[in-house]
Formats: sequence, structure tokens, C-alpha cells
Amino acid sequence: MAQLAPAAASSHGSLCKAHPGPRKKRPREMEPSMVSPSYDIKFQDLILFILEKKMGTTRRAFLMELARRKGFWVENELSESVTHLVAENNSGSDILEWLHFQNIKVSSQLELLDVSWLIDCMRAGKPVEMTEKHRLTVIRDHSDDPNAGSQKTISPAENYISQYACQRRTTLNNCNRIFTDAFDILAENFEFRENETSCLAFMRASSVLKSLPFTILSMKDTKGIPCLGDKAKSIIEDIIEDGESSEVKAVLNDERYQCFKLFTSVFGVGLKTSEKWFQMGFRTLSKIKSDKTLNFTNMQKAGFRYYEDLVSCVTREEAEAVSLMVKETVQTFLPDAFITITGGFRRGKKIGHDVDFLITSPGSTEQDEQQLLQNVINTWERKKLLLYYDLVESTFEKLKLPSRKVDALDHFQKCFLILKLHHQRVAGTKANQQEGKAWKAVRVDLIVCPYERRAFALLGWTGSRQFERDLRRYATHERKMILDNHALYDKTKRIFLKAETEEEIFAHLGLDYIDPWERNA
Ligand code: CTP
Ligand code: MN
Ligand code: MN
Repeated sequence: MAQLAPAAASSHGSLCKAHPGPRKKRPREMEPSMVSPSYDIKFQDLILFILEKKMGTTRRAFLMELARRKGFWVENELSESVTHLVAENNSGSDILEWLHFQNIKVSSQLELLDVSWLIDCMRAGKPVEMTEKHRLTVIRDHSDDPNAGSQKTISPAENYISQYACQRRTTLNNCNRIFTDAFDILAENFEFRENETSCLAFMRASSVLKSLPFTILSMKDTKGIPCLGDKAKSIIEDIIEDGESSEVKAVLNDERYQCFKLFTSVFGVGLKTSEKWFQMGFRTLSKIKSDKTLNFTNMQKAGFRYYEDLVSCVTREEAEAVSLMVKETVQTFLPDAFITITGGFRRGKKIGHDVDFLITSPGSTEQDEQQLLQNVINTWERKKLLLYYDLVESTFEKLKLPSRKVDALDHFQKCFLILKLHHQRVAGTKANQQEGKAWKAVRVDLIVCPYERRAFALLGWTGSRQFERDLRRYATHERKMILDNHALYDKTKRIFLKAETEEEIFAHLGLDYIDPWERNA
């Protein structure tokens, strides 16, 4: 599935071909790959391999020579016979990922060790005990696995699945819908109850299952899958055994869940308002709408007014029609503007809750850019196509560091609006198919970004949300970088990393490129 980056292939060329190493130990004189046959092996029980990745050729050669001189058995190539892998500046996860991409078979007992262990051995002149500080951690699961973080919990020989969605390819072809639907409901319920930790745990569990190329049929299929805590596993077990989960059923029957689901389906209604209405004893939308004591925001008023249209999803044909409208109007003001559909439709979804657009123009001044959305709004208002809008002014600053918050909002100028889409503009919709109203209310998001930030904005607005979250988490925890919708900052080098394309951003992060339709995490 994942392709080997050409650069990685060539720089580790000598390590790629895993020669079928001997399973049994043998005297090193017989080993043809050994360079300096003059050293005797004093410690026959250990077979070492030193990883070049991030350590560099020179330092590796030096350490290999030194270890051999001290009587250690050091292999030139990585194979199944190796018992101890020594690395520098790599986490256990980095190594597993690397092994996976190189497709190298290793022993399931392989110890992953930091170079500090080898150095301690060199000092002692013999193998020293491996302590927790020497062992490289493999972060597999942040949820409720008590052994998470310890490399003992998994064997590197298992097929590697990353805990980060940005290292998985997730298409819309979900083989585990029966489980992910269940997890999504549980996550949503935890969201409604403002239990962020459990909500996130189930969202991650759902996300990882969406990326699997196979359907889970028995519990043993879950072996080696990260992000599945005990809770998630027990739900999977229930579904395998009974075809359903009693916990999920209970949530679906829960009054609070049902009400929150209903209330938040109104545009402009979030958790706070739902909570208030629920506490006040409301259970239906019609009661809420007709209540004289409640004050609604303009957003909520629009949400109620166009409720039926807005809850019926936007089709791809409708999105195309909206796209034409956006292009026609934007290009009267900025003829050279690039207008890209982002969000779910860019990821290949057939339906969406809205249509998202990123607008940028190479030739425009800041002034033109700043005026654009107001001009577009004026035009549509004049044509009576605008049912609602909320224009958010830009707070973008060139030198601002990216936000550390995983779910931070961005600073670009944007407009959340409801557009009147006439049926006649939609391909395949015949006039006689629709009785009464000749149009449908459609939610549209327009975002304008400076031209030099378009790659970051595009990556940020393509989603999915889980994919974005994990991109940022990966940047922070694995690369010491900060990524958001505007920029990528390298904390070690203290510089902003520029990018013209999404591919360049993935490359800066040391990630394989993931196409938009594989970001449905
Ligand atoms: N986004 C963002 N800031 C926001 C809202 C959204 O950065 N204030 C990004 C999110 O990363 C999200 C993408 O824009 O992935 C699209 O958001 P949204 O339209 O809410 O979700 P979609 O993935 O398009 O799904 P849907 O089909 O339901 O619209
Ligand atoms: Mn969307
Ligand atoms: Mn949106």
C-alpha cells in the first residue's frame, strides 16, 4: 500500500535487501559479510545491528568497529537473526515504520535500543542490562492500554499500522462500517456529555478501523491495531458475537442523546444551546420554534427557516452547481483567482453537509483580497441569492507562529453562508421533479487566503478533521514542528518551512504523500 520514497530507497540501499540470515548462531569467521575478521566474538548470545538512519554512515562505521573490537557480534545487514537493533534519534515507532516500509523481516524478539545502551556496553566492555531508559518506546495507543508506551507489548514483526491517521491511507471504502458506526455513535455521545478524552478515544478507534483493508471477523484480527483500547475491543467483541452492541443501543435510546442529536442538527445550535434547551425541558424542535420566551441568534433563525433543506445533504451535482456560481462571481472581481473545492467533496465524498471553497489569487493585492468576499456577498444579495451570511474578517499575520492547538480555528478571512441554489442550475434535476419551491438552501463556506499560503490552507481545509488533528499531532510529537492552516514552523531550526504544494508539506514532515481521497480518516 505505502510506497517507498525514492530517496529513502537509495540512501538505505545497502540495508534494503534483507538477506536470509542464519537462524542459528555461528562463529563469525564463517560470516562473509564481516569486514574485520581479526576480532573474536566474546558475546555469542547477542547479534547486533546498528541503524544508519539519522545516525549517519561515519558514526555507524565507527560504532560498528568499536563494538567488534570489544568482542560484540555486529551484523552488516539487518535480518531475522539480529537480536538487538541499536538506533540513534529514532523512536521505537520510527523504527517500526521504517521496517514496515523497507519490508524487512525481523525476529519477533528483536530488542529496539537506543545508542546509549551500546555506549554503556562499550564502557563496561561487556553487554550491560537493558533498562527502560535504553529501550525505545513504541507509542501504539494513547487510550486505555496500561502497557502503552512499552515496546514489550508488541512485536515488530507484526504488520505496522501507525497510530497517526496521516500515516494511513483511508479511502471511502470502509470495510468495518458495522464497528465504525458504533464507535461514531459512542464518540458523539461522549461529545454531548463533554467527555473529551473518551470522545477522542472512540474517534481514533473508528478512524483506524476505517483505514483497514480487511473486515474484522474475529478478535484475533485486532492484534497489532493501534488506538483500540479495552473498551473499544469489548464493543468489537459484542458486535462480532451478537451483531450489535448493547451499549450502543442504550445510547441510541437515551433521551439526552436523541435530543442533542436533534437540536444540533439545526444550523447555529451547538452543545451549549442544546444543553440549555434540554435542561429547560424541551424535547422537540416544534416546541422550541414556537416558544415566545427564547431568543434565537440570526444563525439559528436561518437554521430553523431552512431546516429541511439543510438537513438533506448536498449532492455532488449540487456542489458542482454551487462551484459554478462561486467561480462566475469571484472571477468578475479577481479574474486570475484559483477556486478549489475543499472539504469532503475534495476527498471524493458523494454527499456533504456543506460545500467548502478555498479562494486565492496570485496577482491580487491585499486590498483586493480583503474586498473580495464583501463584493461577492453584495452581488449575491442584489440577485437575491443570499439567504444568510456571516463574514469573518481576517486576523492573519505573516509572522505569527502556527497554533499549537490541534483544533484551533484559522485566521483567514472567511464567510459562512446559505445560498439559494435554483434547481435549474443543477445537472440532472428536471423542473418537474421538484414541486413548489424552485430552489434549495445550501450551506457554503468560502475561505480566502494569501497566495503563498495556499498549500497550507488547502491541506487544512481538505480534512478530514481526524486527519488534520493527527497531522498536527504528528508534526508536534514526531518532528518538533508546528503545523496549522497557515504555516509550518520547525522548532529545532527556528524557521518557517515554505511550501507551494501539499506534497511539499508532507515532504517537510517526512511523511509519504497521502492523496485527498485517502484522507477520509
Ligand atoms: N475546518 C477548519 N476550520 C473550521 C472549519 C473547518 O480548518 N473552522 C477544516 C476542517 O479541517 C475540515 C474541513 O475544513 O476537515 C472541512 O470542514 P467541514 O465542512 O466541517 O467538514 P467536511 O469534511 O467537508 O465534511 P462535510 O461533508 O460534513 O461538510
Ligand atoms: Mn464540508
Ligand atoms: Mn465546512
